[in-house]
Amino acid sequence: MTTPLLKVTGLRKRFGGLVAVDNVSFSVGERAIVSVIGPNGAGKTTFFNLITGIYEPDEGEVLLSGRSITGLRPDQIAGRGLARTFQNIRLFAGMTVLENVVVARHARLKSGYWGALLQTARYHDEMRQSIARGMELLRFVGLSAKANELAGNLPYGEQRRLEIARALATEPVLLLLDEPSAGMNPQETEVAKRLIQSIRQDFGISVVLIEHDMRLVMSVSDSITVLDYGRKLTEGSPQHVRQHPDVVAAYLGKGVAAGTAATTTAGSALR
Ligand SMILES: Nc1ncnc2c1ncn2[C@@H]1O[C@H](COP(=O)(O)OP(=O)(O)OP(=O)(O)O)[C@@H](O)[C@H]1O
Ligand SMILES: [Mg+2]
Repeated sequence: MTTPLLKVTGLRKRFGGLVAVDNVSFSVGERAIVSVIGPNGAGKTTFFNLITGIYEPDEGEVLLSGRSITGLRPDQIAGRGLARTFQNIRLFAGMTVLENVVVARHARLKSGYWGALLQTARYHDEMRQSIARGMELLRFVGLSAKANELAGNLPYGEQRRLEIARALATEPVLLLLDEPSAGMNPQETEVAKRLIQSIRQDFGISVVLIEHDMRLVMSVSDSITVLDYGRKLTEGSPQHVRQHPDVVAAYLGKGVAAGTAATTTAGSALR
């Protein structure tokens, strides 16, 4: 059997009396698109925070390409090839769109502080490459025409796409997206969906997304993991998850007829 790209075993995190993530195991293969869904407060973002080193798990292990990243710092984990975006957008609002991407790539540069200060040839070379690569990434997310605008002036949907460009600038093997379509209208969500598919296609990497938009989740995911009260309720293909009675109950309240509910109302039912 091949080693999965990401393998999470028995992950647990407690905040006081609350077990936010409770014994969750999860794995992601190469070139996969996997979704994590569940009601508000189910533990989805905490799960990402544990994988990316923002919180240290109380129990459990996280392996990236077969090597443990459990307990490493976020920058060390990023250096291993794991990138993410945040549910609450984190951009440098006062910097241009292009500068935002170039700065994100900066972690990979070799010339460092003295190179920048002394304006060495290597520094200039790396800077030129970073700007060229930044422009390529902006073209990829459809923002090259806005390269010189201030990031803070972009509409919400474009800020989310800029965050994805920033994450891709770190050259990840795995990208975690926390609610990439939040705040988007249906047209923007369609653009986001195609973008997620082309990340796999063009970069050959895997994507894990936390999402509330069920139409998006059902159409892009190879596999879906459902969290509820920190626990894994079920996982499997979109077909399996859509029909799972516990999923319908967790989202829509018990007593709702399974078959009809998940397909007709799931998109809005999660908010
Ligand atoms: N740093 C923290 N300290 C205490 N409690 C926390 C902390 N972070 C998260 N929680 C709690 O853990 C639970 C899970 O939160 P989390 O943000 O992971 O949920 P979520 O599934 O991402 O929800 P949403 O869909 O609303 O984003 C919630 O009850 C939340 O209040
Ligand atoms: Mg969240």
